[in-house]
Amino acid sequence: MANVVIVGTQWGDEGKGKIVDLLTEHADFVVRFQGGNNAGHTLVVEGKKYVFHLIPSGILYENKMCFIGNGVVLDPGVLLEEMDKLAASGLPVNPQRLMISERAHLIMPYHRLLDSCSESALASGKKIGTTGRGIGPCYGDKILRKGIKAGDLLDAPSLMEKIRENLEEKNFLFSKKFNADPLAPEAVYDEYMQHADRLAPYIDNVSVALDNGRKAGKHILFEGAQGTQLDIDHGTYPFVTSSNTIAGNACTGSGFGPSHIDCVIGILKAYTTRVGEGPFPTELFDPTGDELQKKGGEFGATTGRKRRCGWLDGVIAREAVRLNGINGLAITKLDVLSGQPTLKLATSYEADGKTLNAMPGNIKTYAKMQPIYEDLAGWSEEITQARSVEDLPAKARDYVKRIEEFTETPAYILSVGPGREQTMLLNNPFQK
Ligand code: GDP
Ligand code: IMO
Ligand code: MG
Repeated sequence: MANVVIVGTQWGDEGKGKIVDLLTEHADFVVRFQGGNNAGHTLVVEGKKYVFHLIPSGILYENKMCFIGNGVVLDPGVLLEEMDKLAASGLPVNPQRLMISERAHLIMPYHRLLDSCSESALASGKKIGTTGRGIGPCYGDKILRKGIKAGDLLDAPSLMEKIRENLEEKNFLFSKKFNADPLAPEAVYDEYMQHADRLAPYIDNVSVALDNGRKAGKHILFEGAQGTQLDIDHGTYPFVTSSNTIAGNACTGSGFGPSHIDCVIGILKAYTTRVGEGPFPTELFDPTGDELQKKGGEFGATTGRKRRCGWLDGVIAREAVRLNGINGLAITKLDVLSGQPTLKLATSYEADGKTLNAMPGNIKTYAKMQPIYEDLAGWSEEITQARSVEDLPAKARDYVKRIEEFTETPAYILSVGPGREQTMLLNNPFQK
């Protein structure tokens, strides 16, 4: 038995979906524990591309069970769309394959509207560049104890009351502050009751199901969304998402006890990307940045925005190892670096004549920080066909070795293309 957590080590889009899909072969359960449909997790299986925003990336395996934990913020309309898309491609989802926590908070139409109104109201330089999916306002209501949960879909009178109470306050903001049209409680209620009809059979107690599975010897894979630097506490606040993205939240966000986690895998893109606003010390504003963006196909899987690109940042990689307790790395997109004569690894930052070995807690310091780089030799060969470490050019192996040394963490997985088969599984966390 092994229970494994997968997290992003950077600013998201490291290739978590691909690695979750790969490891699902060895797992029984796959669990999303935070975030919502701000996530976009891409899988390429037998040449076919799938993008999941809410459904766990294990869903392509028909005999595995997927869970949406209490820590997720769930937009029911988006979930149903994803389920319909899967059904249309011959993979119908049913309650034997997917369970939704009764405690997961629902993203409501007013959350999406608040998200876009708040973003528009921010001055340039202060905008977060959110995905506009209502994530922050929904988590905000959860913390303020005003949220509506998946379980409320099963109790029509209480749902209506909660929608009314929420809209009383939100409509005041829409009309008085944001100059937006108020929302009618009845319309929101009707829409959500329709979702309730379809989703009711899926809503249950995820914590109990996971614990029963654990006791029966099931292997559980926890699928993180976003990345360590987007964590609400430990990331580049306020340019972060509104949940804890680090491994500790796999437990809180699913109702699974911490002593049952056996392994944490950090997904590390071989260079760095960020979508949205906020500090990015190793960002490249030159043709090399453009090359990485093009070769890596770096467009957001959720919003389609161009991702900002830069060199690998060893400081945040080390930070991710510390914050998540990472046992092994999955290094992705190594193939994108082919053809770069020299690669750079940021090993520290300098600000005000001082050397920094960790990300500062104060946003003002970011603006002054300069990365200190170590140069590493690149390789010219294309490596998308490599299936074992021996197939890689020596310089690519050296790059991986240096990352392992600098982060003091072994590589468990190497990825050289988007396809499931373009992967080297060096150490299987489920076979410990
Ligand atoms: P996630 O949010 O962490 O799941 O990552 P995304 O799916 O948003 O972005 C990762 C992108 O890189 C997707 O388009 C993947 O298909 C692709 N990808 C994943 N691993 C590799 C790899 O090793 N090489 C290349 N070229 N693409 C990859
Ligand atoms: P995956 O799981 C990359 C970013 C947004 C924005 C910030 C806040 O695919 O790696 P939000 O809508 O969450 O309030 O936006 O967080 N962001 C992501 N960036 N990958 C993601 O998810 C992201 N989810 C949110 O771009 O900067
Ligand atoms: Mg993504």
